[in-house]
Amino acid sequence: MTKITAAITGVQGYVPDYILTNDELATMVDTNDEWITTRTGIKERRILKGEGKGTSVMGIEAVKGLLAKTNTKPEEVELLICATVTPDHIFPATANLIAAETGLVNAFNYDIGAACSGFIYALTTAAMYIESGRYKKVIVVGGDKMSSIIDYTDRTTCIIFGDGAGAVMLEPNTEGLGVIDSIHQSDGKGVEFLRMKAGGSKHPATLDTVTNREHFVFQDGKTVFKFAVTNMADVAEKIMKRNQLTGDDVDFLVPHQANKRIVDATANRMGVDDSKVMMNIERYGNTTSGTIPLLLWNYEKQLKKGDNLVIAAFGGGFTWGAIYVKWAYDAK
Ligand code: UT7
Repeated sequence: MTKITAAITGVQGYVPDYILTNDELATMVDTNDEWITTRTGIKERRILKGEGKGTSVMGIEAVKGLLAKTNTKPEEVELLICATVTPDHIFPATANLIAAETGLVNAFNYDIGAACSGFIYALTTAAMYIESGRYKKVIVVGGDKMSSIIDYTDRTTCIIFGDGAGAVMLEPNTEGLGVIDSIHQSDGKGVEFLRMKAGGSKHPATLDTVTNREHFVFQDGKTVFKFAVTNMADVAEKIMKRNQLTGDDVDFLVPHQANKRIVDATANRMGVDDSKVMMNIERYGNTTSGTIPLLLWNYEKQLKKGDNLVIAAFGGGFTWGAIYVKWAYDAK
């Protein structure tokens, strides 16, 4: 029997118009362009402005563009998975809202939350539906409105994050293209270093939690940095070894955009040249679940059928992993 793999057959991104520059941040907290650029590689990030606009707004735009681009009728889509840590509501799932607004009347939809690894967890999950032979068209969305959970008086976190979303279409392939292998890991001991302290069932919202600013991202940056550098490089190296790939065989590293220094360390360990490392952190910052599909969208025109991509991410939880993808099409 011919093996079915899950090929990415289209990608689309969406970023809001408003650009929050390092210089504007320097008017809000005690920071400066030089510090932010040298420590993170970030120059600016996008912010979704406007009352009542949640992550779904960006996911909807990405999915609409994806359907048009791949000539897909909304009713053909069978499943949509949305990776996010900033859902419009605790329930229902943001995936349900995106599907309703884009006319996916025959799809079932749910969210996956794995912080900055959300998109890669969702991609592997979605790929398995295709590989099973039961599903033919699955959409994976990754997106976050990080500005909704960022404390713009905390200079250690507000400089890092931005808003954005992207979506990919997965379809069966019998030429050996698509998701070839994946490795995922998590360690709940990381919880204390990167989290939102209140707003969940453990500490529901109260006047005190709001006063104490517990509905924002808390990060012990130094500790997270150490774990991210080691684990992202380890897992990327592991998936390369398991698939007999050398640095030269890898056409692109697609790394979660947390910090340019973490990306550089990962590429270095993999033996992948800088020219083959996808980067857009300077323009978008860290969009959490959005970074990987936004990179694929930005670099789509440079990708060729058969290209070897190693996707790697690390995030809150801790969660991390890597996926080996053989790109399935030449951009039009
Ligand atoms: O995507 C999810 C996973 N997240 C990550 O991977 C993020 C990992 N962490 C990081 O990227 C980095 O730790 C940060 C970018 C968050 C911070 O960079 P760092 O090089 O680790 O800086 P630091 O925390 O060691 O701070 C160095 C100094 C401190 O001052 P002192 O104690 O040396 O006087 C900070 O108070 O820089 C100060 N500082 C700042 N200065 C200007 C911290 N934030 C700022 C700022 N502007 N925005």
